[in-house]
Amino acid sequence: MEKTFYITTPIYYVNDVPHIGHAYTTIACDVLARYKKERGYKVYFLTGTDEHGQKVEKAAQANGETPLELADRVVKRFQSLWEKLNIDNTDFIRTTQERHKKAVEEIFRRIEAKKDIYLGEYEDWYCTPCETFWTEKQLLDGNCPDCGRPTDKLREESYFFRMSKYQDALLEHIEKNPDFIQPRTRRNEILSFIKEGLRDLSISRTTFNWGIPVPGNDKHVIYVWFDALTNYISSLGFPDDPDGNFKDFWPCNVHVIGKDILRFHTVYWPTFLLAAGIPLPEKVFAHGWWTVEGQKMSKSLRNVVEPNMLVDKYGVDAIRYFLLREVPFGLDGDFSHTALVHRINSDLANDHGNLVSRSTAMVNKYFDGVLPQPGADEEVDTELKQIFNNAVATVDQHMNNLAFNKALQAIWELVSAANKYIDDTAPWALAKDDSQKERLGTVMYNLLEAVRLIALYTAPFMPETGAKVLALLGDSEESDVTDVRFDWGGLKPGTKITKSKPLFPRIETE
Ligand code: MSP
Repeated sequence: MEKTFYITTPIYYVNDVPHIGHAYTTIACDVLARYKKERGYKVYFLTGTDEHGQKVEKAAQANGETPLELADRVVKRFQSLWEKLNIDNTDFIRTTQERHKKAVEEIFRRIEAKKDIYLGEYEDWYCTPCETFWTEKQLLDGNCPDCGRPTDKLREESYFFRMSKYQDALLEHIEKNPDFIQPRTRRNEILSFIKEGLRDLSISRTTFNWGIPVPGNDKHVIYVWFDALTNYISSLGFPDDPDGNFKDFWPCNVHVIGKDILRFHTVYWPTFLLAAGIPLPEKVFAHGWWTVEGQKMSKSLRNVVEPNMLVDKYGVDAIRYFLLREVPFGLDGDFSHTALVHRINSDLANDHGNLVSRSTAMVNKYFDGVLPQPGADEEVDTELKQIFNNAVATVDQHMNNLAFNKALQAIWELVSAANKYIDDTAPWALAKDDSQKERLGTVMYNLLEAVRLIALYTAPFMPETGAKVLALLGDSEESDVTDVRFDWGGLKPGTKITKSKPLFPRIETE
């Protein structure tokens, strides 16, 4: 059976334009999706936009447009940014699409049929920016405990989901599946939240219209989180096409999210699914938040980092690399131009770029650009191969743990090993001695093979650079990516090797 992999980003609210935080999640998912493809998996990678709810309705009103006009406008900003960042998603879901509406209605009906939805009355404090209800007790000085902004007292008729009924089943699931919530600290956070006791959840609103009406009672619209979370299955064709993508890809392998929306994904979503009789996702991974030059990113501070501008200035691969290399996925991090420039100059221009230029230049100088046949191995060659062979499992493990920075560290150990191999074998000295021609050929072969493997490893992170390097090595068949390509010895002697231009020009700083 074909190996499959399903990965999702959160769907982004359209009341805000995309910034570096959104780009971060999406790039991380794209990297893992590309990596799994390289490893021979059939991959489904989903992203999209969350277009309903009071927040979007209010933003549209403030702009003098309809919510759908706002959504149509902002969705283009997201889509064009993803294109610019080389995001290779399988589908883009919008919650205003008919296919999504059908899925939301169906899951609502299923839960209602189980008598786990009932009509009641609500009186609580609502934080509109977070689209979340709080009890009086949960408020901090009268404000939202998550974002600190003021809340409004709301009293309304509402449909409730019997979330309390699923408390024990959820706890058991989390305890039996230690990897369900990652990282560890997040898992502990959720475990203690559940142990405090789950209340029934209000899942409809009557105070505004912008949403999917409750089936059979259009005075109510469905709560935006109930609506939004369903995107993960509506994209797969649930409920109309149970034998298609839904069968192949559900349950999802990993929902990647920011730490702020953990509870929705690890308490609400799994209990909805339990009630609807649908299997739970395998894993939810919550990453940290970016600050900018030490400060929280906010419109009022005018320090929102605009990804389009960054790409224009530094190039797409450098940005993708930096975001995943600089900070362990799961921890908070700080974005600074100094740190970015430092990474570009040292890791990319110096270590990786120089390796590729030196290697391709030497084959051209010593063998007219035709890759020689390798001869017998010396100790230094065996060592190099061993380092590369060991990396296959190491990198794979880090990628499966979404430890992108560790995967990159492991890949850069290969870069260092290859650079060291050049110093140790001193090809320029071998070239001066005709009797060493065969030895020089072995060294060149091993070096270029190392460059090929490094290109394969870096390609999910830096697709343009990866493809460029592979093309220098005579590989134009990007589609021919299979697992075996990670085995040592894939380059064919006789291949024409093109001399590389600098991959990453150094950025001059004062
Ligand atoms: N619409 C909901 C998600 C619904 S998923 C079924 C939502 N949207 S959002 O646009 O507000 O946020 C989307 C993601 O961006 C979240 O995962 C959030 O953590 C992430 N980020 C927003 N600002 C961020 C930073 N400053 N840093 C890192 N990620 C941040 O929530």
